[in-house]
Amino acid sequence: MVLATFISALLLAALASKIVRHWLMRKSLSSHMTNGLPPGPPRWPIVGNLLQLGQLPHRDLASFCEKYGPLVYLKLGNIDAITTNDPKIIHEILVSQDDVFASRPQTLAAVHLAYGCGDVALAPLGPHWKRMRRICMEHLLTTKRLESFSKHRSEEAQHLVKDVLGRAQGGRPINLREVLGAFSMNNVTRMLLGKQYFGSKSSGPQEAMEFMHITHELFWLLGVIYLGDYLPMWRWFDPYGCEKKMREVEKRVDDFHSKIIEEHRKAREYKVRREESDGDMDFVDVLLSLPGEDGKEHMDDVEIKALIQDMIAAATDTSAVTNEWAMAEVIKHPHILQKVQQELDSVVGPNRMVLESDLPHLNYLRCVVRETFRMHPAGPFLIPHESLRATTINGYHIPAKTRVFINTHGPVSYTHLDVYKRQVQFLLDLLKNVWVFDYLCHGPFVCYR
Ligand code: HEM
Repeated sequence: MVLATFISALLLAALASKIVRHWLMRKSLSSHMTNGLPPGPPRWPIVGNLLQLGQLPHRDLASFCEKYGPLVYLKLGNIDAITTNDPKIIHEILVSQDDVFASRPQTLAAVHLAYGCGDVALAPLGPHWKRMRRICMEHLLTTKRLESFSKHRSEEAQHLVKDVLGRAQGGRPINLREVLGAFSMNNVTRMLLGKQYFGSKSSGPQEAMEFMHITHELFWLLGVIYLGDYLPMWRWFDPYGCEKKMREVEKRVDDFHSKIIEEHRKAREYKVRREESDGDMDFVDVLLSLPGEDGKEHMDDVEIKALIQDMIAAATDTSAVTNEWAMAEVIKHPHILQKVQQELDSVVGPNRMVLESDLPHLNYLRCVVRETFRMHPAGPFLIPHESLRATTINGYHIPAKTRVFINTHGPVSYTHLDVYKRQVQFLLDLLKNVWVFDYLCHGPFVCYR
């Protein structure tokens, strides 16, 4: 009797859940159709599709695209969102409708970790963003300025090669993540802050570790899809202490930047007193020398900190991770490695280091690097974009203020394509998708909106 009651209860519960799911699916489908929104998974009241995102949201979003088509609509709490991994739709969003989608959402991470969205990467489209971007393009990332650091880059490359050779000759294992991470960090910090954190002229292991640690925490927090951004009540609840963590990192990062700016100011004053010339200027020196807004003599410290922080976050992990993947792929595919080595032997020869001026002649190597960008994008999503006004894509209605997740994880046309083995396909694909690489990968000049 008890068993029969239990089984009936179980059957009833299963039936009820099926009815609710069916109802939600129909409701969701009909609302998608009546509103003209792109198709998407059924959603729950209040939370929408939030509970359908797990630890690896890029995989969940990619599976939605597989199921519902190249452009998927989601309701995340009270935010409209779309996601795509289709090159044509990405082109429509980033290129054809750039004027609609060039803004950024104001997330809590951006507010806490990018000086109230006062930087370039996370700032909404507007006069502030335009000014900060102009400063980057006209004063920091110019060809002349970047060339002025080529000596540092070549020193770092030599240091890397010597380090790896020394370890290999001593029969010690080489942790590629470690050496490539230090290489990338040093290149960036020498250009930005005039400091080498790892190696002979390092500013001490403790400061280096602290710097590495906060950079990783910052990067991680900026990438999290934080529920408080979608459900305001969650903000007050915050069971995982995410916002508390953001505030802690914000404070540590700010202390770090204040110290750097102070050191640079003192060094400048010292040079002025001794009537020494400016000599090699790093990015902080350049920013300290620029006039501020509305006739102010200097830029505000907050603006300088926001820009420096952007560059650190944008440049260190992206380059290190890409280098690591490139090495992993060529190690996995020895015949490709052999071709890279043959090209190096014929263009550079065995008696000297590779110079930056050799790079235009290393075509095969360039293809390997580009293919690595394609197979292993540095992050699973681009930085989220936001629509400034309502628009249509492929005939679907996209409301104003829709958050856009461009998923670089396994775009439809790339999946299951082992390009390292199928080189003909590789080169054809390269040519077809060349604009995607150019947009995403060719360094700071085109990572820009
Ligand atoms: C392997 C290296 C790199 C990769 C794969 C990469 C990739 C990207 C991507 C995907 C974006 C987002 C584009 C968007 O959402 O529209 C971006 C933005 C950005 N990147 Fe890079 N990047 C790299 C290196 C660098 C370096 C070395 C710098 C600076 C020194 C830099 C500075 C920036 C900045 C400032 C932004 C924000 C631009 C804006 O929102 O206007 N990146 N990058």
